[in-house]
Amino acid sequence: MKVVVIGHGGHSKVVSDIIRATNDLYIIGYLDNNYERIQVINNLIFGPISAAMQLKEEHKNVQFVMAIGDNRARKLVVEKLGLSTKDYLTIVHPSASISPSANIGFGTVVMPQAVINADVIVGNHCIINSGAVVEHDSLLNDFVHLCPNSTIAGTVKMHEGSCVGSGATIIPNRRIGEWTMIGAGSTVIDHLPAYSLAVGTPAKVKLNNNVNVG
Ligand SMILES: CC(C)(COP(=O)(O)OP(=O)(O)OC[C@H]1O[C@@H](n2cnc3c(N)ncnc32)[C@H](O)[C@@H]1OP(=O)(O)O)[C@@H](O)C(=O)NCCC(=O)NCCS
Repeated sequence: MKVVVIGHGGHSKVVSDIIRATNDLYIIGYLDNNYERIQVINNLIFGPISAAMQLKEEHKNVQFVMAIGDNRARKLVVEKLGLSTKDYLTIVHPSASISPSANIGFGTVVMPQAVINADVIVGNHCIINSGAVVEHDSLLNDFVHLCPNSTIAGTVKMHEGSCVGSGATIIPNRRIGEWTMIGAGSTVIDHLPAYSLAVGTPAKVKLNNNVNVG
């Protein structure tokens, strides 16, 4: 299947490796706003993100893979493009472990060695980064990002756009508000409000109007 990757920065390099490790998928191009117009170089298409619809019309069975790491930027692009959710592939690295009872949404990317256990629900356009663990019955809404080696214990609810920094842990049954950022290595033992930045062990809210969600 032909694949166009949206985003061509650092995160996109890792996503491209996963696509290459997946049978039956091959990359025909990259869209990124660093490219002003469509060009073909060495049989690969490069163009601005706004060219997605054009590529969809020109390549009938093309699917898109979302490879923008920043949660807010990813949501903005999805809203602006107005593609159907089914136009976005869900990409899972072969070394990831996914329970048969877990449900993973469109446009979500699951990276090497990630673990998603029983009855977990992962929304659309999430990133489950390398080595992240999501325990049973947790719910991750759309545009959530779990950075490498983060651990989400059982029955945690993460609201839209929230992000768990590398190596951070959330203990069971906690709720993380929308667009909240948890610092690398933190341990979350309380529910966290929306739009906050929380850091440390135990994690404390540093900012209530956080705008940077990685
Ligand atoms: C949480 C984070 C996003 C904050 O970044 P920022 O908005 O630039 O914030 P600052 O660096 O100004 O730090 C704000 C305060 O929080 C503290 N802080 C930041 N990150 C922290 C962390 N991980 N643990 C403990 N304290 C932390 C800082 O020391 C600073 O404290 P002060 O106000 O007392 O001086 C960033 O530090 C972080 O942890 N990023 C990890 C993201 C990640 O894992 N990405 C992987 C992508 S693959």
